[in-house]
Parts: sequence; C-alpha cells; structure tokens
Amino acid sequence: MPTVPKGSSPTEPKIAPGGPRHVAIIMDGNGRWATQRGRPRLFGHHAGAKRVREIVEACPDFGVEYLTVFAFSTENWKRTQVEVAGLMSLFRRYISKETRSLSEFGVRVRFIGDRVRLDDKLIRLMNELEEATAHNTRVHLTIALNYGGRDEVARATQRLALDVAEGKLDPGAVDEETLPRYLDTYVLPDPDLVIRTSGEARISNFLLWQSAYAEYEFIDTLWPDFTKAEFGDLCAAYGGRDRRFGAVKT
Ligand code: IPE
Ligand code: IPE
Ligand code: MG
Repeated sequence: MPTVPKGSSPTEPKIAPGGPRHVAIIMDGNGRWATQRGRPRLFGHHAGAKRVREIVEACPDFGVEYLTVFAFSTENWKRTQVEVAGLMSLFRRYISKETRSLSEFGVRVRFIGDRVRLDDKLIRLMNELEEATAHNTRVHLTIALNYGGRDEVARATQRLALDVAEGKLDPGAVDEETLPRYLDTYVLPDPDLVIRTSGEARISNFLLWQSAYAEYEFIDTLWPDFTKAEFGDLCAAYGGRDRRFGAVKT
C-alpha cells in the first residue's frame, strides 16, 4: 500500500508507515474500577478523566496525529440522575482545568456529538476550548460527548435532505463521499485503530460509519489503569497488521 505524503487532505486515506495516524478509544471500565475499590462510580470517572492527558501527550511519540475519545454516549442518559449529573459536572470541570495544559502542548480540541441536550454552561466551555485551541496542530484531540454513531448519521441525513430540498444537492449524485461531509467528523480522517478497554468486545455505537475499515483492539485493562506504555504497545502492534481494504496484495 503506498504511503500518502504528509500534508495531504485529512479525508484521504493514508497509511502511516509505522503506527496509526488516527486512534479512537472507547474509554470503558471506570465504574468497575471504582466498584473494585468499594468507591462510588463517579470516583472511577474522575480517575478516568485524569488518564486522558498522559495518552494525549503520548501521541507524538507514537506518530499519532488524531486521537478521538468516547466520553459520553447518546445512550448514557439512561444512567442514574446522580451519575449523569456527576459526569456533566466532571466535563465542565475537566474543560476548565485542562484548557491551559492542552493549549500549551499544542493540542487542538474538537467535540463531536449532539450539543442540543447539553447544558448552556457546558456548551459555552466546549466552544471556548475549541476556539482557544483552534490554531494548534500538534495533536488533534476529538472528544465525543453525547455522541452516538446512529444519531450522527441521522442528523447528517437531515442536513443532507435539507440541501436536496433547497436544490443545493442532486440526490442522484449522493455517494459514499457525500455523506461523510455531513458527519460531525467531516474534517477528520477515518480512524486507523479503535481501542476499547475493559474487556467488552463491542463498539457501543461509536464511529459506525468512520470505522468501517479500522483495526480493533479489545483489551482487558480498565480505562483508569490504561497507560502510555500499553498505548505504545498497541500502536506498535498496529504496525504489524496487514490492512488490505478488500484488495489482494500482488
Ligand atoms: C466508561 O466507563 C465511561 C462512560 C460510559 C461515561 P463506565 O461508566 O461504562 O464503566 P463500567 O463499564 O460500568 O465499568
Ligand atoms: C461506551 O461505554 C460509551 C463510553 C465509553 C462513553 P458504555 O459502558 O456506555 O457501553 P455499554 O453499555 O457497555 O455498551
Ligand atoms: Mg461501560
């Protein structure tokens, strides 16, 4: 598979010579980690949030340009009011606390997901963090918050249908290049590697369209125990994978 040179469009498929260019992580297992310690689930969420910085800052060491993390799904509203409120307060606190260090490290932060159901203060903090880091290019961190792959495709389809109704888009011209332009991830390349911690081998509605050809790693480590070393091992293991994209190597 030829290597596409750096600086090309982020939506073009590009195979990093060694490690993955875009890693997406389903950060799972916070609740079990806390329960194992006899503590409330929110204790695990706080420990989990603290792990994010080390992994973000490890990205340049492993050639990872894009890191996308699943923080809250469209299904997570089904949890108790105490847990949901605690998570929302954690997100607000995390953004306020981490803005400076993310910025100084050269991280550009983006959020994906539907903001409509989030509270005004959180939305404002998210917008401010995106604006404050918009000039950074060292690591592209995307935080999926109130994100669901099906919800994203449904919202994209609504916008696409509106463009058709307004005569801006010819329905006969809609192909698999068209829909991704309406997804929340439209500026991001597809993930090369999707990691899920905590031993569950499912994707729970994460990046459904974008991960069609991603490599997957399901590991037993609970998210609050995930380290840079393990991240590095998974990136290295990715380098040994044979990605054929349906073709046969000649
Ligand atoms: C992942 O950890 C964080 C969120 C879904 C918000 P969990 O809270 O799902 O932890 P487990 O799976 O119950 O251990
Ligand atoms: C997926 O984990 C969502 C996040 C990590 C934010 P869940 O714990 O919500 O997924 P299920 O319920 O095990 O499928
Ligand atoms: Mg879970």
